[in-house]
Amino acid sequence: MINIVLFGPPGCGKGTQASKMVDKYNLCHISTGDLFRSEITGKTALGMEAKAYMDKGELVPDSVTINMLKLKMQSLPDVNGFIFDGFPRTIPQAEALDNMLQEMNEPVSKMISLKVRDEELVKRLLMRGEASGRADDLSEDVIWNRVRVYNEQTLPVASHYQKQSKLVEINGEESIEEVFGEISKILDSL
Ligand code: AP5
Ligand code: MG
Repeated sequence: MINIVLFGPPGCGKGTQASKMVDKYNLCHISTGDLFRSEITGKTALGMEAKAYMDKGELVPDSVTINMLKLKMQSLPDVNGFIFDGFPRTIPQAEALDNMLQEMNEPVSKMISLKVRDEELVKRLLMRGEASGRADDLSEDVIWNRVRVYNEQTLPVASHYQKQSKLVEINGEESIEEVFGEISKILDSL
């Protein structure tokens, strides 16, 4: 199994690259943001709880997020491997993921971190908001809060995987194809 943590700030290109990785490597893509959005569309209790945090650009509490991820993984037996997009975002989430994968005897293979400057992130998300109408892309204040929450609460997760010698950083400001070329080199080497 190949298990990739696709890491980086809001708008760095996680979703864009994950869909290309699914096509080329046949891995299973799990985006906790997409899972929350589908719960919101379904008007579930979980969705309503998550929405209150997402609309402000804050993290959904760990217990809620970890349980949702566990259920999703359990519903997908016999896969080639996972791409975790937007998870883990805190150290307790990283520890929970490590434990879940350890139970399967399948560790995280690499954390691929896409580096993009804050100003470029905000520009991309404002542009996407115009087209997609994603609720948390509509306000520049909420976008900046997402970037701040990433820098303050999520960035430490990179050190967690650096200590395990699993962190690889890529310049996420190259073209989508160039970024994917770099990711492919990493996956081909596994
Ligand atoms: P989530 O859905 O994960 O959103 P995010 O991290 O804010 O990231 P985005 O999905 O906005 O960006 P992306 O990196 O996927 O970039 P994309 O490929 O779309 O999370 C949303 C919320 O859910 C969180 O704020 C939180 O509340 C909650 N949540 C989720 N997971 C959680 C967790 N684990 N714990 C707690 N709470 C959680 O690209 C963005 C744009 O840029 C697109 O328009 C794209 O076309 C463009 N683009 C991509 N690559 C390039 C490139 N190389 N050059 C130019 N443009 C590019
Ligand atoms: Mg995304």
